[in-house]
Amino acid sequence: MNVVKSLRVFLKLLPSLRSVWSSIALGIVTGIIHQGIAIAGSAVGAYLVSLAFTGAEPDRIRRGVWVLAVLVLLRALMGYAEMWYAHKAAYGILAQLRVKLYRAIERVAPAYLMNKRTGDLSSTLMADVETLEWFYAHTYGAAIIAVVVPVAVLAVIAVLIHPLLALVLLPWIALTITVPFWFKNAADRDGRVIRENLAAVNAEVVDGIQGIREILSFGYESWYLRKMKAANRALTSIQVKYGSRHGIEGGLLNSVMAAGLLSVTCLSVYLVLSGSMGREWYAVAIILSIYVFTPVQALGNIARNFGIMQSSTDRVFAVLETPETVRDLVDTSREISQTVDVSFEHVDFRYRDGLPLVLRDVSFQVSPGETVALVGRSGAGKSTCSNLLLRFWDPTGGCIRVGGQDVRDLRQVDLRDRIAVVPQDVYLFNCSIIDNIRLGCPDARDEEVIQAAVNARIHDFIVSLPDGYNTVVGERGVQLSGGQRQRIAIARALLRNAPILLMDEAVSSLDTKNEEELRQAMANLRTDRTTLLIAHRLSTILTADKIVVLEDGRVAQVGRHQDMIKHSGAYSSLIRSQYAEGYQNS
Ligand SMILES: Nc1ncnc2c1ncn2[C@@H]1O[C@H](COP(=O)(O)OP(=O)(O)OP(=O)(O)O)[C@@H](O)[C@H]1O
Ligand SMILES: [Mg+2]
Repeated sequence: MNVVKSLRVFLKLLPSLRSVWSSIALGIVTGIIHQGIAIAGSAVGAYLVSLAFTGAEPDRIRRGVWVLAVLVLLRALMGYAEMWYAHKAAYGILAQLRVKLYRAIERVAPAYLMNKRTGDLSSTLMADVETLEWFYAHTYGAAIIAVVVPVAVLAVIAVLIHPLLALVLLPWIALTITVPFWFKNAADRDGRVIRENLAAVNAEVVDGIQGIREILSFGYESWYLRKMKAANRALTSIQVKYGSRHGIEGGLLNSVMAAGLLSVTCLSVYLVLSGSMGREWYAVAIILSIYVFTPVQALGNIARNFGIMQSSTDRVFAVLETPETVRDLVDTSREISQTVDVSFEHVDFRYRDGLPLVLRDVSFQVSPGETVALVGRSGAGKSTCSNLLLRFWDPTGGCIRVGGQDVRDLRQVDLRDRIAVVPQDVYLFNCSIIDNIRLGCPDARDEEVIQAAVNARIHDFIVSLPDGYNTVVGERGVQLSGGQRQRIAIARALLRNAPILLMDEAVSSLDTKNEEELRQAMANLRTDRTTLLIAHRLSTILTADKIVVLEDGRVAQVGRHQDMIKHSGAYSSLIRSQYAEGYQNS
């Protein structure tokens, strides 16, 4: 069973080797030559010492020393070449794998990410991929060498020195090969647990960094430290167990090797004394025997590390093989006109099988150029509507049309290309403000970016910064306020110049000046665009042409503010309960 599993891992990892096969072949060939030269060098050295002891002529020894010098030089060269080719291949594959993994995550996002811890995923992207370096650089080559070299050395011993010596080594070699397999099941199991615990510690650290503000402000330091220590303790205890078993295994292997060498020594002494082997071969026989065992012991490393590698492989492939949440059903690009309507038609939706419906029979329409505000209590399903329009998920029932076409009949890139999004929580990348805005339209010229910033009412603020547009806003744009970030997002959306605007208004309260600037920026943005606005502030709701009230995933009321507020109903009760103060002021 275990062997089948190990084979499965090998089979999964092997196809990536195809792209770097020449480096791999060269790595293996230079590896074998490297080992061969190392063995030859040691054997020549031992032979020369024996010659010196047996009183051979100095000229012969001098020639031997020259041969030795050349062998040492060649050995260094081949050692370098072996490492170079093996790592060139391995790191090349890892770089490809990281990109492939990231593409796979993009394909299944955001649905997949919602059920994953960030730290866990980043651990897969970095640490698990790094573990596979060991496979690509140090396993298959070592495995081939572990077979080729001992066979060759045994042949040399049998032909050059004495066949009996090779024969006496055989049972010990067989035993050396089996030792790691006595421990393999336990090593596999612990190796897997180590990788899982390592990912858990990683996730804990990422949690601690991302949540540091909460940890500090709520005085949660000791709570977090306890969690962190518990994760570390679990990891350490299994690592110690793994390490001590490694020690026992190493001890056993050394004992087997020592017993093998002892038999060779005894037999050599007997053969020399009985005159069937020259004295000068005695040391050579011992040295060569050591070299029979060394590569075989490397097999033990491979067997031991398999558990760790298997778990990393499983985690990497779990991401690579996750089916996409939504799939492009067409592969040809379809035009979406510059003025379009958006309509939800009897949309039902649940996030996953087994979960309750969060949208039920939702129907509403946004005509070309119109602004529709989606309002409702927290959890009513507003953001879900925007997730469906962007096709991060597909409806469970009903359909969503853009310009009359079912969104499932459009390619995801084409659909998203026609929608400009201003999200509730704006993410700014760790680069300059100008590049952050340019995300809206990567080809935009600097003047266009600046014009968008002017229209988004953020230009004056940007130029007041010491580095102006080149200010690096940092991961998550920590140096900017919520309102400033939102206006950068508006500038992005303006630059995108897409016919549909999807806006999730920030819930955080803004000061009056900020709010006024944001309102103007939004007004600029909405000109002529078909706008779906998830509105929280009454002042924003009032600017909409039409209001759709969601209640528990259903459309409870549709209409205009002036009409709906006069009568009792979902809208007026929502407004009166949530915006009592604002409503009186308006
Ligand atoms: N990824 C998810 N998996 C499962 N359920 C989800 C997921 N995202 C949201 N929900 C559930 O769907 C319902 C609607 O959530 P949604 O985010 O659409 O609410 P909302 O109206 O945007 O609320 P808010 O005003 O607080 O942003 C909620 O009950 C929520 O728990
Ligand atoms: Mg929401």
